[in-house]
Amino acid sequence: MPFHMVEFIEKKRDGGEHSEEELHHFIKGFTEGSIPDYQAAAWAMAVYFRGMTPIETQHLTLEMARSGETLDLHDVAPFIVDKHSSGGVGDKVTLTLGPVVASLGLPVGKMSGRALAHTGGTLDKLESIPGLNVNLTIEQFKELLKSVGLVIAGQTHDLAPADGKLYALRDVTGTVPSVPLIASSIMSKKIAGGADAIVLDVKVGSGAFMKTVPEAKELARLMVDIGAGLDRKMAAFITDMSQPLGNAVGNALEVREAIDALHGGGPSDFREIVVALAGEMLLLAGKAAGRDEARSLIERQLDNGEAWNKFVQFVAAQGGDVEAVENPDLLPAARIQEPLTAPVSGYISMLDALTVGRSELILGGAREKKGEPIDHAVGVVLHKKVGDWVEKGEPLMTIHANSRERFEEAKLFLLGAYEFSDDPPEVPPLIHDLILPEEK
Ligand code: URA
Repeated sequence: MPFHMVEFIEKKRDGGEHSEEELHHFIKGFTEGSIPDYQAAAWAMAVYFRGMTPIETQHLTLEMARSGETLDLHDVAPFIVDKHSSGGVGDKVTLTLGPVVASLGLPVGKMSGRALAHTGGTLDKLESIPGLNVNLTIEQFKELLKSVGLVIAGQTHDLAPADGKLYALRDVTGTVPSVPLIASSIMSKKIAGGADAIVLDVKVGSGAFMKTVPEAKELARLMVDIGAGLDRKMAAFITDMSQPLGNAVGNALEVREAIDALHGGGPSDFREIVVALAGEMLLLAGKAAGRDEARSLIERQLDNGEAWNKFVQFVAAQGGDVEAVENPDLLPAARIQEPLTAPVSGYISMLDALTVGRSELILGGAREKKGEPIDHAVGVVLHKKVGDWVEKGEPLMTIHANSRERFEEAKLFLLGAYEFSDDPPEVPPLIHDLILPEEK
């Protein structure tokens, strides 16, 4: 059957289901440029309103994964486990999870992204370590995966190029928040990246794409089913992003916190997420008999220095300054480090992740548009979180800024992140759910 783009759009507009063949023609034409952006945008809007069936979403995922190069890493590692977060504020999990999993002999080769809007990016965090290079060729990536067992790099243009193009178009046409489009976007990159097992961290709350637990569960279920349908081992956590994860938000500040956790310390909520996600990776890879054993192996590696040793090896291998991670006072630091104090006494009943994330834009630690430079030193360190009691005048957080003007603006803005109550508030659970493939 000849493919007609107008009919393809009309079919989705009227609530129809695309065949595998139609999706193949669409993705091929769009990637090559024979289908113009305006038609692809009209189709994305039709999907936004009409949705896609799970099988359609799986076909779209596979077509996007195959639109460019697909990696096969089995010549350097027998089993590849990947982890992906849907994006949040203070989410430095990869920095600690990567070394701890690799230290147990399970190779971790991760392609990560950059900060965009209010959400942080692993690559930017890593680049606050002087000299560390995240721009690697596929050959270098493979070499480090083999020799170190841990490599974190930027995604190459050749990996799922259809997704890169479609995501950029969705970004400017109001079609990002569509569950099947998000699911296929994330999963196409994971599939093209050669993962055998994938642990997903689907964030929920004001600082996440998914604002409610039912929405997050729908996305998680769809991604788990897509992966399982393509014979990948899958697990997806639904984790809280109503307030930031851990205490540090900001690139170099988050690296310090990740280093604390690699020395067995760090905030308990951050450590808990690392232990849960890393544990699940071990389980999927068959490196632990059960969840309890997996957890205790991860905790052991964090506490006995092995995960830290792997991190140092990784930093050195990617050209980073080892001295700066051994002595984090050498990491970029802001000139102004002053507190935001509590305006009243009371329990903290809200600490809005989105507001904290957006304050990074004011401080210069995040970017509004792709490619903008950022200041790695700035950010905030929280001293109190939801459920804690504060006295009027007590520090709520320390703001790290490099200009007085930005500091004052951020301070005013960040006050809007808080709500206080006289009675202890309900603290949201850190892990809302774990979604696994349905038993066949
Ligand atoms: N992250 C992605 O990679 N794609 C989306 O569509 C949303 C978040």
